[in-house]
Amino acid sequence: MDATEVFYCYTADINYNDMQKELGHILCHTEQERLSRFRFNKDKKSFLISHLLARIVLGRKLSINPKKISYLYTSSGKPYIKDNPVFFNMSNTAMMSSLIINKRYACGIDNEHINQNRDFMDIATNYFGINELEKLKKTEINRQAEYFYSLWALKEACLKCRGDGLNISPDKVQFVLAEKHIEALFTPSLNENISNWHFNLKKMEYNCLLATALKIPDAHNIEISYNKVTQSTLFNSYTNE
Ligand SMILES: CC(C)(COP(=O)(O)OP(=O)(O)OC[C@H]1O[C@@H](n2cnc3c(N)ncnc32)[C@H](O)[C@@H]1OP(=O)(O)O)[C@@H](O)C(=O)NCCC(=O)NCCS
Repeated sequence: MDATEVFYCYTADINYNDMQKELGHILCHTEQERLSRFRFNKDKKSFLISHLLARIVLGRKLSINPKKISYLYTSSGKPYIKDNPVFFNMSNTAMMSSLIINKRYACGIDNEHINQNRDFMDIATNYFGINELEKLKKTEINRQAEYFYSLWALKEACLKCRGDGLNISPDKVQFVLAEKHIEALFTPSLNENISNWHFNLKKMEYNCLLATALKIPDAHNIEISYNKVTQSTLFNSYTNE
């Protein structure tokens, strides 16, 4: 089955205390420890939600008890499931958490909140390619933040799909956004064939963007199903195990 599925929840719609009380025990010891180390409640909340989303959805898809999912990590930190070849990736911000799953092919996901107040031009100057930066500067002022976060989300999704994360510079893959088409350009040292890649970008609620990257040989007409997950879906999915 080559279907690609994305699951997402909006953090604001979820009550942290309910989740922690009812489902917090699903997280493994390492996750519990990481959770306890966050200083700010917003970080605790987004971590808890994204890790519950991943365990509950993966558990259901793979017919494993979510508590029994055991993650291993590549040397650059990308999680995978011990003894199971499924590909998945997760992302979280204060506004939303997301998960992508494909049973056969590598995938990456990144969600970003469009923050108008951040000094994104400074980040773009350091981490965007020359053409990307030029295009951003030429974008109408009131659309620049969205344009910046669109490129950033696509870069992260791509680098997370490869498993590099930000261990390599985001300017190694560059994007051009056309009306109905996303064009990517890899630096030759990454040794990638563009026809194997499929990128998607979606505007979500709460002023968020969701970018996905899939590495599938001769990728074309790839369909992705998007599934919104609410607090009650999480509760019901778990109690129905
Ligand atoms: C991966 C990375 C790009 C994530 O950036 P981010 O915008 O903060 O986070 P996102 O919410 O989009 O994604 C985080 C999730 O991506 C996954 N992830 C972590 N490293 C990854 C990698 N190299 N490739 C793909 N996915 C990765 C994890 O599931 C992580 O979730 P968790 O931190 O809650 O366990 C960034 O953390 C990174 O590159 N780190 C590499 C540098 C580093 O710290 N390396 C540590 C080596 S052990």
